[in-house]
Amino acid sequence: MLDTNTLDTSALDLIFNDARTFSAFEDREVPQELLREAVALASMGPTSMNCQPMRLAFLARGEERARILPHLAEGNRAKTEVAPMTVVVGHDRAFYDHLPKLFPHFDGARAVFADAPALAEETAFRNGSLQGAYLMIALRAVGLDCGPMSGFDRAGVTEAVFGGTSFEANFVVNIGYGDRSTLFPRQPRLGWSDITV
Ligand SMILES: Cc1cc2nc3c(=O)[nH]c(=O)nc-3n(C[C@H](O)[C@H](O)[C@H](O)COP(=O)(O)O)c2cc1C
Repeated sequence: MLDTNTLDTSALDLIFNDARTFSAFEDREVPQELLREAVALASMGPTSMNCQPMRLAFLARGEERARILPHLAEGNRAKTEVAPMTVVVGHDRAFYDHLPKLFPHFDGARAVFADAPALAEETAFRNGSLQGAYLMIALRAVGLDCGPMSGFDRAGVTEAVFGGTSFEANFVVNIGYGDRSTLFPRQPRLGWSDITV
């Protein structure tokens, strides 16, 4: 390990080495304060021109959650119905309206995207996805576990939770305290030589 300011082994294990993707969770509620803490931490992650396009819909069990269930892939439905908490991670297609506040030293920031729909869409999706990843790491960092899913009808979930807004769904994450007894062994990861050119 380099002699720099770094996380200790147990912190690295919590967010990476021992963290897994969960389909089943313990029967414990997720404290709202932890969700707020994780969102605040995730918001510190970098985005291009500080655009922060991620938008979230937290769905408690019951009626709120029921709205998205018909739009999920069959294999994702039952586990999502019973998860302690679910969040739809999306992004705001009109994120650039916030740039005068978020990137105030550049007068032309809003126009860069408002006048270029393809660039705006790419930027919203790229940075919203990054922020979604920061969120999952942050959730792990506050002691929670995640079960991310992209197996769903995007248009259906978007309409169900973000209908009438400029927000669009990207992926869904079940959240709770993971039930490790349900885990299969971890699948292999690519190594340095596979990943680098
Ligand atoms: C963006 C994203 C989409 C995923 N979609 C699904 C899904 O629709 N259904 C599912 O059961 N698992 C889904 N997964 C779970 C992955 O298969 C899992 O995270 C991966 O195999 C790594 O597992 P591990 O964290 O336990 O090592 C998804 C994961 C991510 C990050």
